[in-house]
Amino acid sequence: MNNKATLNINNKVHDLDLITGSENEVALDISKLRLDANLITIDAGFKNTGSCQSAITFLDGEKGILRYRGYSIEELANKADFLEVAYLLIFGELPTKQQLEKLSDDIKERSIIDEDLRIILNSYPKSAHPMGILSSLTSGLVAFDPSAVDIDDDEDMYDAILNLLAKIPVLVAWVYRRRKGLPLEYGDTSLGYVENIAKMMFQRPNKEYIQNQTVVSALNKLLILHADHEQNCSTSTVRIVGSSYAGLFASVSAGISALWGRLHGGANQAVIEMLEAINEDGGDTKKYMSKAKDKSDPFRLMGFGHRVYKNFDPRAKIIKVAADEVLKNLGIDDPILDIAKGLEKEALEDQYFVDRKLYPNVDFYSGIIYKALDIPAEMFTVMFALGRLPGWVAHWREMRLRKEPIGRPRQVYIGENLRSFSDINSR
Ligand code: SDX
Repeated sequence: MNNKATLNINNKVHDLDLITGSENEVALDISKLRLDANLITIDAGFKNTGSCQSAITFLDGEKGILRYRGYSIEELANKADFLEVAYLLIFGELPTKQQLEKLSDDIKERSIIDEDLRIILNSYPKSAHPMGILSSLTSGLVAFDPSAVDIDDDEDMYDAILNLLAKIPVLVAWVYRRRKGLPLEYGDTSLGYVENIAKMMFQRPNKEYIQNQTVVSALNKLLILHADHEQNCSTSTVRIVGSSYAGLFASVSAGISALWGRLHGGANQAVIEMLEAINEDGGDTKKYMSKAKDKSDPFRLMGFGHRVYKNFDPRAKIIKVAADEVLKNLGIDDPILDIAKGLEKEALEDQYFVDRKLYPNVDFYSGIIYKALDIPAEMFTVMFALGRLPGWVAHWREMRLRKEPIGRPRQVYIGENLRSFSDINSR
């Protein structure tokens, strides 16, 4: 494979470098295109444009492959602990026992939140969407930790990262409990990271908390499956906000806002609302299938399709199996799961979906498990954000360590040419 391409524009030939990745993907390096050929490229939604070179996550959309730092998602989801995966994504290797213990201890040291943040949380109306609250509280953390903005050395970086890994789970639990009208409590630093998240969320003030291992292992698996996904919309947002040196908390706050959208992480809430609407409508999946194919109807089959996967989303396959296990272990018979499976079967046999390579994605089945864990639909995307946190942090750290330039795309101007100002009385 040669490492050069030539571009012939108006009989002028320009040499462009080709970059080959470690999984043999090839990219045209256009970093000198404007200088050499006075040209830019345009690519709505960046469907064909790479924003960076990254060593964190590899996806193969055609083969349905997902790996974090070279480890398959199937192995990690079934064998690893979420905190191990967080360490792997952020620092590049699976931790030794000592490294994992230190990470866990350092997180516990930082898991107290200034009581004034509780006042800010309680000032929100109960009806406020949890993603909006989480995004603003994440940005608000800077007020209590101003050193997390100008991060210039490894120690500052480690401290800011650990503060976020420590405090976001508390904020998530408090947002959940406020919605339920429960007192905002801390967990128990004698517990593991995911066990503690479960206790912070589900403990009740009037009875002893008994850990449910089915709940903990379901949460652990879901958090791992959501932990990273290379340059998706919210991660790209974290990287571009971070590239202006806005600081880690502000960058992740922006990522949370981007994830909120129903075409992205907000889809898991939209899926369960869609499945419940179909259930209330007598389970008439065919009606919703035709709505999804009707171009005049804005309705889309939520939880289906993906920018990169043109085959099964490997995470959806794992979550589908886990949904069966969790509902069985918890003794829950939810008709929504059968509707989801029926919809999947119909779509995979429907030419419209087959032609467009639309398969279930990570959001299609995840809400069924969250619902079984008594998590309300408006909290589903918050759980997605909790899982994605180590991925966002890993990409922010990689962008800073690689000293990436500030993100500033160009454009093709299609507006008015030069014209003179006219006095208001003559307009
Ligand atoms: C996530 O990027 C990531 O990695 C994201 C994510 C992560 O881990 O970070 O994986 C998480 O965001 C998963 C996606 C969750 N979103 C949804 O489930 C919402 C429903 N899906 C779609 O809106 C859509 O599939 C997207 C947004 C996910 C992808 O959109 P693209 O790549 O821009 O594709 P497109 O909109 O250009 O669609 C191509 C065709 C169109 O039809 P034609 O114009 O060619 O006739 O497929 C159709 C679309 O109308 N189509 C759908 C559809 N998704 C695409 N038709 C019906 N239902 C759908 N869900």
